Parts: sequence; structure tokens; C-alpha cells
Amino acid sequence: MTPELEDLFAFLSFPSVSTDPKHKGDLEDCARWLMQKLSGMGLHTLCHETERHPIVVAKNEHDPSKKTVLIYGHYDVQPADPLNLWHSPPFAPEIRDGKIWARGATDNKGQMLAHILGIEKTLAEKGELPVNIILLFEGEEEIGSPNLAPFLKQHLDYLKCDIIAISDTGMVAPNTGTLGYGLRGIACAEVKITGPARDLHSGLFGGAVANPATAAAQLVASLHLPDGTVAIEGFYDDVRPLEAWEREMWAKVPGVKDEDFLKVTGSPALFGEPGYSSAERTWARPTAEVNGIGGGYQGEGSKTVLPAEAFVKFSLRLVPDQDPQTVLKQLQTHLEKHCPPGVKLEVELGHDGKPYACDPHSDFGKAAQRALKATFPGEPMLIREGGSIPIVQAFQDILGVDTLLLGLALADAQIHSPNENFPIANFDAGIKLNQALLEELAK
Ligand code: BES
Ligand code: ZN
Repeated sequence: MTPELEDLFAFLSFPSVSTDPKHKGDLEDCARWLMQKLSGMGLHTLCHETERHPIVVAKNEHDPSKKTVLIYGHYDVQPADPLNLWHSPPFAPEIRDGKIWARGATDNKGQMLAHILGIEKTLAEKGELPVNIILLFEGEEEIGSPNLAPFLKQHLDYLKCDIIAISDTGMVAPNTGTLGYGLRGIACAEVKITGPARDLHSGLFGGAVANPATAAAQLVASLHLPDGTVAIEGFYDDVRPLEAWEREMWAKVPGVKDEDFLKVTGSPALFGEPGYSSAERTWARPTAEVNGIGGGYQGEGSKTVLPAEAFVKFSLRLVPDQDPQTVLKQLQTHLEKHCPPGVKLEVELGHDGKPYACDPHSDFGKAAQRALKATFPGEPMLIREGGSIPIVQAFQDILGVDTLLLGLALADAQIHSPNENFPIANFDAGIKLNQALLEELAK
């Protein structure tokens, strides 16, 4: 195994699941491993404790005549369950079919380590970097980065930079340079619906008492019109329309045609807001999704019960210029208005992150495109992203700096799903890309 793959295997073996308090020690161990790697490369490295998981920062010796590039990544991962669907254990990485299989392989440890190893390689080859570098790695991205924005505000001087680069987004097709210039925002909420004081016999009481599971279903059904548009009042008010040049450009992007969406998702058919392609629906249109719904009997066979409670978890994906707080209030009003009689509704608003968009044709955007061209065949694809990285708009708001998204995640990487994977080819290309990127950004 190459030393690069050995590093990646070590990094992937920490079960750094940020949402689960029982993994707190694993996040700390993972942060410590990262610190050792970075200080071993001769970088000045610091660990900042937070209420949840540590933030790791590192810098080379800065030269005031050089540009400063901040590179962000996250070492936390999503939970690995359902475990029985994995072909190999999620935290015991394995190579099969030219890919590395493990939780975090693509999102984000593989992509993040490619940045680090690109820097290590340039340092080994040239003895110095063409730019001043600030590395900023957190362990809370998958839980909405609650402690990172406060950290930015407290360390404005330390984090002063000209541009930010992140590899934590998509590559539209294998071996295809992809520059992301936008991300959807996110707003989460959860509702609890309660009815009778305990589960009841559905024969003795059904018909006389409202059923919380039925109420949950009614609320969920009220969110969309039959054609797939979101029915929350005011939801589309601040949505920035797609530009003609984007639609034209995206129509030529490989790997994101409707038939590709069908293939990669395994769905029987596509469905969504009329008048938009699948790429447009996911990159530039907002949505309201139900992430989980439950209540009542879930076991084998039937049980004639009228459940005492039910719950629904929602996440809304937002686009410029929607504001997460405004939209959450609209959602709350909608739920209260549509809740049927006879049950009690509790709405708990969760974490959120703003949507992001920048100009891919800026000087730094052009430098990123040159780096992509030097690494991959053909012209780079310019896209927006359906996923969210909540801190990116906060970088713009707090540090006043734009972010270049240099994605290496393929559509079949199965991020957040069982059998997450990262092709060795993407890992190797990522290392080269990051070397080229720093060269181009320096110009
Ligand atoms: N790396 C992803 C986001 C992503 C993936 C963007 C692929 C574009 C293409 C990130 O780690 C992620 O999963 N973010 C969460 C954020 C949330 C939990 C606050 C998301 O989008 O669900
Ligand atoms: Zn993720």
C-alpha cells in the first residue's frame, strides 16, 4: 500500500460520528491523529476545544507578499447505520474494484486528506508552498457546525485570507473537473403530535378519538401540491430565478441528465417541480423533505392500536436568497394552520445554514478552472450543488471571503448511505489538483 493510502486508512478507521455522544472520544482521537499528521509536515498546528468536538487549525510560515488560501474540511462523519447493509465494516476500510470502502471515504475524509497530501507533496518537492496556507478542520459539519461560526468571529485576524477552497462536493462524472459555485442552504424542524394519554384499543376508541399518526400523515401531505411544488405560504417569495446562461450551461453537463438520476437513485420514475430538469431541481430550486416519520406499531404482523403519539422530521433545502429563519417561521405557521383537530402539536425548530452562490468567473474562479484543466481532461464543468455546507455562507458573512468548491464526490459514492466509497483514482487526482490549485491561486 502507498503511504498516501496508509494515511487514508488510518484516518478512516476512527468512527468519528459527530451526532452520537458515545463517539466523543473517537472524535478527539481523530483530531489528535490529524494534529500529528499536520505538525509532522512542519506546520504550526493548534487544537481548539469546543462544547462538542475540537477544531484543528494549521499554518505554514506566512510571507506577507504571498496570497493566503484557507482550506476547510470536516473530519466528522454521518452515522453508519443500517450496519447490516454494508459489505465490509464501515470503519475497517477495504479496497475493492479500485475503490476505498468506508464511512467518510468521500464525505469528507478522502477529499480532505487529498488537500493535506497535496500540500505535503509540494513541501517535499519544493521545500515551500507558493501561498500562505491556513488549514481549518472541524468535527461538527454533519450536525450543522454549531461552534464554527463563533470560532470564526473570535479569530478574525488569525483567519484573514484571500480565498477559501473546499473539496466536499460533487464531481459530475468520473475524471471530469467540476467547479461548484453554489450550495443549497438547509433548515431543519421536528414535530411531535400527541393525542390520548396512552396507546388505545383501536376498536374500543377508534372513531371517537383523533389519531396522531393520521394527523402526522395529513401534515406531511399538506406540504406539497399534487404537482410537487411546495405549498408553504411565502416559500418561493425570495427565490432567485435561474439565469439563462446557467440553464444553457447545465444542459451540457455530463452525468446529470434525467436518465443518470434514474440510474443512480434506483427510483422507478422521477418526480418534481414542473418545468425544471433534475439538475435544476436539485441545484437551484428549494424543497421540503420528510426525513423520517413514525408513531404506532412497527413490529411484525398487526396490532389494533390507536397510537398516543407520532413524529415527523423535516429538512428544507434552500436557494439564494431565501433566509432559513424566515422559512422556518413560514413552516411553523403552515404546520399550526394545517394540524387537524383533536391532537396537540409541538414544533421544534432545528439547525440551519444559509444558501450560497458566487461568481465562477472571478479571478480566483478562473485560477480554479485552470487547476482543474491541468488535472482532468476537457473543460471543467461549472455547477451549483444540491447539498449543503452551512459554514460556507458564514465564511462570506464573517470573513468576507468567497469559497471555491472543487468536488471529487461521484454520484455513486453513497455518501450518508451504506457502502460509502471513494475511487483511488479520485484520491490520486485530488492530490494533484490541490498541488495545481495552490500554484494557480498564487498567480
Ligand atoms: N459534503 C456534504 C455536502 C455535499 C455533498 C454537497 C455532495 C454537495 C455535494 C456535507 O458533508 C453534508 O452532507 N452536509 C449536510 C449538512 C447538514 C447535515 C447540515 C447535508 O447537506 O445534509
Ligand atoms: Zn456529509
